[in-house]
Amino acid sequence: MEIFKDIKGIRDFVKRERQAGRRVGLVPTMGYLHQGHLSLVKIALESADTVVMSIFVNPLQFGIGEDYEEYPRDLTRDAELAASAGVAAIFAPTVAEMYPKGYASYVEVEQLTEGLCGASRPGHFRGVTTVVSKLFNIVQPDVAVFGQKDAQQAAVIQRMVRDLNMPLEIVVAPIVRESDGLAMSSRNVYLNDEQRRAGLVLSKSLGMARERIAAGERDAVKLRQAMVDFIKSEPLADIDYVEVVSRESLKPLEELAGPILIALAVRFGNTRLIDNAVVEV
Ligand code: PAF
Repeated sequence: MEIFKDIKGIRDFVKRERQAGRRVGLVPTMGYLHQGHLSLVKIALESADTVVMSIFVNPLQFGIGEDYEEYPRDLTRDAELAASAGVAAIFAPTVAEMYPKGYASYVEVEQLTEGLCGASRPGHFRGVTTVVSKLFNIVQPDVAVFGQKDAQQAAVIQRMVRDLNMPLEIVVAPIVRESDGLAMSSRNVYLNDEQRRAGLVLSKSLGMARERIAAGERDAVKLRQAMVDFIKSEPLADIDYVEVVSRESLKPLEELAGPILIALAVRFGNTRLIDNAVVEV
């Protein structure tokens, strides 16, 4: 496996792969890899011959007071894990390589970015869509894989690719969970033992929501309130949002119908965790 820090290096690598007739897949990450990331590589390898992984903690998508500085980084460990998963090349640029002096261009998706994480993290999705557009332009993959854990991010990127006619396929891969249900995240390392235990309230509340829907609940407001009450029963949980929205528009629902997204963001101390479930009602 090769590691490139510069744009020219990864471009030349991808060019060689293409000339050899290989289909190129991209798995964009911010590193500190876990099984969730490796599942994205596995899925990318199903539809690409060569998988490139980008590892870049993108300052543009972190707000003031967020965890950009603390975000865990370990390229040596990441490189071992990526190689064992079948990644052919890592693109791990510096901030100066991605945003040189005088950088002034941004990509913004409207509407879908207004609610959920977009409401509590202003500017976050502008940072995500800008860096992802740059990664698509640099690597020029045939397919890129994103995780469903960041449900709104996946929807926003799919919209951007459609709206801007970007010539690649987007695959969204299922959430990977620890054996007790906690969705895998690089941020889980911030949790102490008590917070780690309390964090289970997220997947449990989604399980409860699924059960209620299966039992006939169709009132989105009641469902949401039941989830809020359940999460609040955990003293360490501090709710950022709990929303029941249309899977397509990401707009809040009153009545449960069609494909819905139940999404939540909850803080445990300084750590903000997200989780979600898609339910076909
Ligand atoms: O999901 C992430 O890790 C990031 O938001 C992404 C897509 C790599 C962009 O920085």
